Amino acid sequence: MTVVGKGLGYGKVIFFGEHFVVHCVPGIVSAIDSTTDAEVKKAVKGLNIRDERKTAKGYSEEKRLQQIESIERIMKAMGVDPRTGLDIWIGGTLPGFSGLGASAASSVAIARAMAQELDMQISDEKINQIAYEAEKAYAGNPSGIDNTAATYGGLMWFKKDRAGGPDKVEHLRVRRPIEIVIGSSGKVANTKAMVEGVAERKKKNPTKYDPIFKQAENLTMAGRKALEVYDLRKVGELMNENHSLLQQIEVSSKELDLMVDLARKQGAFGAKLTGGGGGGCMIALTPGKDLQGKVASAIKNLGFEVLSTKVGVEKY
Ligand code: MEV
Repeated sequence: MTVVGKGLGYGKVIFFGEHFVVHCVPGIVSAIDSTTDAEVKKAVKGLNIRDERKTAKGYSEEKRLQQIESIERIMKAMGVDPRTGLDIWIGGTLPGFSGLGASAASSVAIARAMAQELDMQISDEKINQIAYEAEKAYAGNPSGIDNTAATYGGLMWFKKDRAGGPDKVEHLRVRRPIEIVIGSSGKVANTKAMVEGVAERKKKNPTKYDPIFKQAENLTMAGRKALEVYDLRKVGELMNENHSLLQQIEVSSKELDLMVDLARKQGAFGAKLTGGGGGGCMIALTPGKDLQGKVASAIKNLGFEVLSTKVGVEKY
């Protein structure tokens, strides 16, 4: 018997393809070594949420209603009676910054903790499906890339199935882990509004958007090849091109562009926004501790928060 159900979900960065993945363009995502942790305990009544994550200012308030809806969705997908009282604690090392998959990581963590507390045996595949249902509360029409990374960890190729069948997910390996720097604009973004905005503009202006989506697909394919042969200069160049496409579909912001430019000037091999944009975070490819430190300090000196980590690590 467990005293309290526990679970975790990984944070993530997207190297190629955010937004485009919603429309079945392939993407490349990597989990990071920060997790959201959850504990769930049966309670007399109600959903009593204690969220102790470190967050960007206003994150918890902005996401509050979506968080409640996501937990209700988790319960429904797990077949748990909606009247069940639950005390839910959320914490862990992954900050609540938009763009790092914090919502998906928390849904995966809560679903796992709830399953443990209610003595349900649930496979990772099912946890991933449950978290996808929960992501709808935050992203409206999510691709599934965030919950997949949050569930399984690792570096992966992801493609949503156009006919609604299972997503195509392949784990990728790189020769050595790669240092990256994540910069947070400190601005909380509404992923749902960002995803809807892209879909609307794409529908209204196919002459502009269709070629951009085709380019995004080519970039992800080229990015995979470059990662597999460990040509990090090439990976960086492709990330820069990906950022330019994201600017063209209007999901970047002043702060993100500022951090991206600065990272490149400091020698980053490439930099781009990561996740939904409209605020949130950027990533810079900074192989080696020295370059990573240099880029991280420069971004910090501008007043932004920074996370330095590695991708392509076997353990997560
Ligand atoms: C958010 O991390 C990634 C988006 O493409 C939304 C999604 O794929 O669900 C913006």
